[in-house]
Amino acid sequence: MNKMKFLAYNVREDERIYIQNWSNKNNVIVDMTEEAITPETADLAKGYNGICALQTSEYKSDMFKKIANSGIQSFAVRSVGFDSVDIEGAKKNKVKVTNVPGYSPSAIAEFSVGKALELIRRVPYFEQRMEEQDFRWNGYISKELKHMTIGVIGTGRIGHSAATIYQGFGSKILAYDVYRNPELEKIVTYVDSIEDIFKEADLITLHAPALESNYHMIDKKAVDLMKQGVYLVNTARGSLIETEALLAGLNSGKIAGAALDTYEGEAEYFSHSWVNKQIKDPILTELLSRKDIIVTPHIAFYTEQAVENMVDISLDSLKELVETGSSKNEIYS
Ligand code: NAD
Ligand code: COI
Repeated sequence: MNKMKFLAYNVREDERIYIQNWSNKNNVIVDMTEEAITPETADLAKGYNGICALQTSEYKSDMFKKIANSGIQSFAVRSVGFDSVDIEGAKKNKVKVTNVPGYSPSAIAEFSVGKALELIRRVPYFEQRMEEQDFRWNGYISKELKHMTIGVIGTGRIGHSAATIYQGFGSKILAYDVYRNPELEKIVTYVDSIEDIFKEADLITLHAPALESNYHMIDKKAVDLMKQGVYLVNTARGSLIETEALLAGLNSGKIAGAALDTYEGEAEYFSHSWVNKQIKDPILTELLSRKDIIVTPHIAFYTEQAVENMVDISLDSLKELVETGSSKNEIYS
């Protein structure tokens, strides 16, 4: 029998060793390309049994059609989020898709709490002064997490991990989720509505998936309800925040600062080099120019532990799909 053969798209240098190790251990050929998977690059996968990919740009219906025409029915994304997958397109073309539900929740949680600390300790402002050899303290006195109320929105794997870290700081933790986690009630107080988080939290941290139902959950109405001087941390998905409403909240002083590891218009920019190129998105330019916003290019996940697990678990699921026709990590049934 021929050896099983996968093609991994969007492969970075740091993933190669883990892919190679998995391939050796499982006796499966895994070829690699740096290309994103698009309708234009889908033909590269002709002759393979399955595809593995990782991108925030869309996994399009036309792409699923092309790979299905090449006889491929198994597709694994190496991420938690699958909001960029056109699920209807995958279904229509009978392509099964898996994700990696929990490759290292602490990677993202630790990063988000780190950014919260940078925000409340006003680190970007001090860094700016330091660049000018201005070593004064005045103007940027800060708060302590210990004395703040943290509002966690989404208490799944990452929200849970973040809440545990905030507990270590001694913060008061309020939480909102469409499903409560009884185990977490030992350290958080669940509120009945998301508006309660907006009204009571000193710092709001987002850990919900991007869904149609929560598109722009942080909009003008939400900002209006928030406490004066609130901080916002988003390591979840850009579409959860209406960026214009965030900027208006910062300009009015209602929001004291925001840390954004994700941004609605990020696909073209984050994870790509724009050195010596003009950014065409005026909102991104504005976000990058401000000291009350910390922007990072979707790197909360980026740890050795997480990357190894993303590779291993996605390829395990892909192999399972090819061998049995199903996997516990399928994103639709
Ligand atoms: P998860 O599925 O374990 O948890 C998500 C939780 O959000 C669930 O408990 C769910 O019930 C809840 N939820 C769904 N809709 C909600 C709503 N409208 N309001 C409040 N809660 C809601 O997912 P996770 O692994 O904890 O991931 C959380 C987020 O982090 C996702 O958006 C994911 O895409 C993102 N993420 C980002 C990075 C990064 O590098 N920045 C890495 C991994 C995951
Ligand atoms: C995820 O796993 O959902 C992430 O956000 C990581 C990113 C590299 C897509």
